[in-house]
Amino acid sequence: MGSVGELLKKIKSLKGQLRVPSDKSISHRAVILSSLAEGESFVENWLKSKDTMATLSIMRALGVKIYEKNSGLRIKGTNFSLREPSKILNAKNSGTTARLMLGVLSTQPFFSVITGDESLKRRPMWRVVEHLKKMGAQIDGRKGGDKLPIAVRGGKLKAVSVLNKKASAQVKSSILLAGLRAEGITEIYEPYLSRDHTERMLMTMGVKLVSYDTEEGRVIKLEGGQTLRGTHVVCPADPSSAAFFAAGAVLLEGSEVLLKDVLINPTRDGFFRKLRQMGALLSYENLREISGEQVADIYVRYTESLKAVEVKREEVPSLIDEIPILAVLMAFADGVSTVRGAEELRVKESDRIKAIVENLRRMGAVVEEYEDGFSIEGGKPLKDAIIKTYGDHRIAMSFSIAALKAKGETIIDNPECVAVSYPEFYKHLELLGC
Ligand code: S3P
Repeated sequence: MGSVGELLKKIKSLKGQLRVPSDKSISHRAVILSSLAEGESFVENWLKSKDTMATLSIMRALGVKIYEKNSGLRIKGTNFSLREPSKILNAKNSGTTARLMLGVLSTQPFFSVITGDESLKRRPMWRVVEHLKKMGAQIDGRKGGDKLPIAVRGGKLKAVSVLNKKASAQVKSSILLAGLRAEGITEIYEPYLSRDHTERMLMTMGVKLVSYDTEEGRVIKLEGGQTLRGTHVVCPADPSSAAFFAAGAVLLEGSEVLLKDVLINPTRDGFFRKLRQMGALLSYENLREISGEQVADIYVRYTESLKAVEVKREEVPSLIDEIPILAVLMAFADGVSTVRGAEELRVKESDRIKAIVENLRRMGAVVEEYEDGFSIEGGKPLKDAIIKTYGDHRIAMSFSIAALKAKGETIIDNPECVAVSYPEFYKHLELLGC
């Protein structure tokens, strides 16, 4: 491959079958929960990327024995007996690693410090620290404990009741992990549902957890002092990675792709539902269940015209990570599309509202920015541009897809950042590209 710009210019359509890399959220959780379980676990089809390697390295630094075997991991569970680390733990670019590990470290009677890269050091941690401190963990960090590096001395915890206002699965998971070692029943209330992989995986590991819907939203309850049983987890393909190829296939004339083994958990497949509302030719085939999660092969074809759509606050959690690629599709849809209630995008790997708006404008789109979203007047052709990724993997991949449809040769300023979630992204584009 020459420059990424040249590769993108060459691709006119996408054709064939592809199994995108495994789900990042599930891969993080598989390492963390297996490390805390009693007995051995095997994680099949584990995603090896920069983010998930950060989780694996941290678990190793805490004394967990993890062996890589083909595309899987064999993990010797510690039953919550981790070792005090002699070095600062580094979550790198990964918010999931930092926030879930803060919950885990709160259960441990030792001193530890966790940090991250420049982007992660800017992201808010108080949303988990606040609750973990109430549970009894001693925690301090920059900006009153909101920013990494953060130091934790954990130990005896008591259960709390938490309202998960931001519909954050990282907050929910962090509290549930701490709750596993707390005295009493930990409760989480969710007005809008966030991804539920932690709950599902805990249940497959023998944890008794109840989860039910009320008029005010979902309630999740878990009693402390339970043991996790080592297990065999099979990770499905990541819908957030599949979204780029689905979008590419919809936009490029003559395309036809089958995306294999994709996770279609309803807390995660909002992008594909939205794509269907836009009129895209897309179907779920061969629906099945793997390791407590719903999976399908997704068949997608070129679609001549797309309709504008709206994304409302309650829909945001199920497509939060796909909003950058959805914005690219919106730029090609007829009419004005809008995303509102998505202020969380401002505190992701980059300020994604700003990154979407600026880059689409660079390509000639008419876009309005709001504090909690944006609107796009779609249907006009896009032109080549120099894309500023802000080191954000999803911005790089989304605008690489936009570049395939735009005129001229678009330059992506830091294409290497895709390695955070999808190291083979450009290789796969080349493979399916004709
Ligand atoms: C994730 C939860 C979401 C999502 C992130 C992964 C997870 O973040 O955006 O990419 O694995 O729990 P929030 O919990 O901040 O909403």
